[in-house]
Amino acid sequence: MNILLRGGTVVSSTGTKKQDVLINGSKIAKVGRFLNVHDAEIVDVSGKLLFPGFIDAHTHFDLEVSDTVTADDFESGTKAAVCGGTTTIVDFATQNKGESLNQALNNWHIKAFSKSSCDYAFHMAISDFNDSVKEELCSMFEQGVSSFKAYMTYDAMILSDEKLFDLLSTLKALGGIVGVHCENDGIIKALTKQQRENETLCSKTHPLVRPSLCESEAINRLLSIAKAVDIPVVIVHLSSKEGLEEVRKFRAEGTKVYVETCPQYLLLDDSRYEQEGLEGAKFVCSPPLRKKEDSKALWHALKTGEINTVATDHCSFTLEQKSVGLQDFSKMPNGLPSVETRGILMYTYGVCKRRISIEQMCKLLCENPAKLYGMYPKKGAIKVGSDADIVVLDPKADGFITKNTHHSKADYTPYEGVRTKGRVESVYLRGREVVKNGEVVLEKKGKYIKRGKSTLN
Ligand code: URP
Ligand code: ZN
Ligand code: ZN
Repeated sequence: MNILLRGGTVVSSTGTKKQDVLINGSKIAKVGRFLNVHDAEIVDVSGKLLFPGFIDAHTHFDLEVSDTVTADDFESGTKAAVCGGTTTIVDFATQNKGESLNQALNNWHIKAFSKSSCDYAFHMAISDFNDSVKEELCSMFEQGVSSFKAYMTYDAMILSDEKLFDLLSTLKALGGIVGVHCENDGIIKALTKQQRENETLCSKTHPLVRPSLCESEAINRLLSIAKAVDIPVVIVHLSSKEGLEEVRKFRAEGTKVYVETCPQYLLLDDSRYEQEGLEGAKFVCSPPLRKKEDSKALWHALKTGEINTVATDHCSFTLEQKSVGLQDFSKMPNGLPSVETRGILMYTYGVCKRRISIEQMCKLLCENPAKLYGMYPKKGAIKVGSDADIVVLDPKADGFITKNTHHSKADYTPYEGVRTKGRVESVYLRGREVVKNGEVVLEKKGKYIKRGKSTLN
């Protein structure tokens, strides 16, 4: 079946052009002006922007954490994702201590299989790096897992500096890439202990025990290890200006480092924690929300190209789940929902507010994550031969964000009432219209995507 998207403006990382797009089956067959095709269903998209399907390379669906499980599994999470224009997610298959990587990967395949409404791939989060795990790394690549995650905090996940060095050295030989959660674990623990002694354990305290220096110190340490090994690494969910300064310092000395940030660090700040009870709890994530100056620095770094990708770190909990930590923030499950809102937030507060160009948005949400995580040009571009993953965005529509229309099982959104410009009108996933007039019309059509090695420069 051929579909001709006629009269839209195709967005790429290098420009916008009025072009028709011909979809043949699951692939993009032609892109050009005034395409004349006889046997195609013609869809008038004049006045609309056509983006490559957005890629969210940082989600946590169906993750057991803090004695609970994230509110969103692959069914609700990917439905929310695709409704917001995300056609591919890269979730963190997570190795529990004592488990093999193959067991962990198998667990994640079971969680995702036949439930996903967008395409999906997996990073492997490693919590237990030992000799037998080392031997499994090759088989991860064979199974399409070419990126890994390591944590510098959280008891269940933390790797020592020595283990990190060993992991990076092993992956250097194999051509893999590691994203790292950078926070200084010792400082967090010591500050939490102090606050416990003072009996100040409400959500307001959460950012106080995880100051920016925890992030910048860990970034410095990670980049020192990466420099010693001589391998590029990814800083995930960068939140602070101080952390960014460390990245700049190492880049100036020639270290290759990629950086991801998330909408919450661009659009929300730590004043949210001043709100009492559940209102403050809604914003408990790690790293925590920072100051307005930090957000400003991150926006600037998006503009200059110093930050390479914007993902969500969607890790959702209901208010009931969050309420477990109301008397003691350290027991609260960390994370925010935003897989449905990232695209429209970046369009409204990035492109329309002229903080980034539309081409940069395409780079940050499509092209760069596809290249960084070995999926380009299958994903991340509207090009002949690419998967026909296309977001049709109406730039003229006005709206606002509310949990009432969301697909996430979290019963709140951190962006309630926030005004938006533009609307994800329809979404094509490998040639099939899965979202029409803003609603999911075709569910559970997502496929596992095997990835190759990173190609981002
Ligand atoms: O608070 C957050 N971000 N939770 C998700 C897990 C992580 O650290 O990425
Ligand atoms: Zn993290
Ligand atoms: Zn995360």
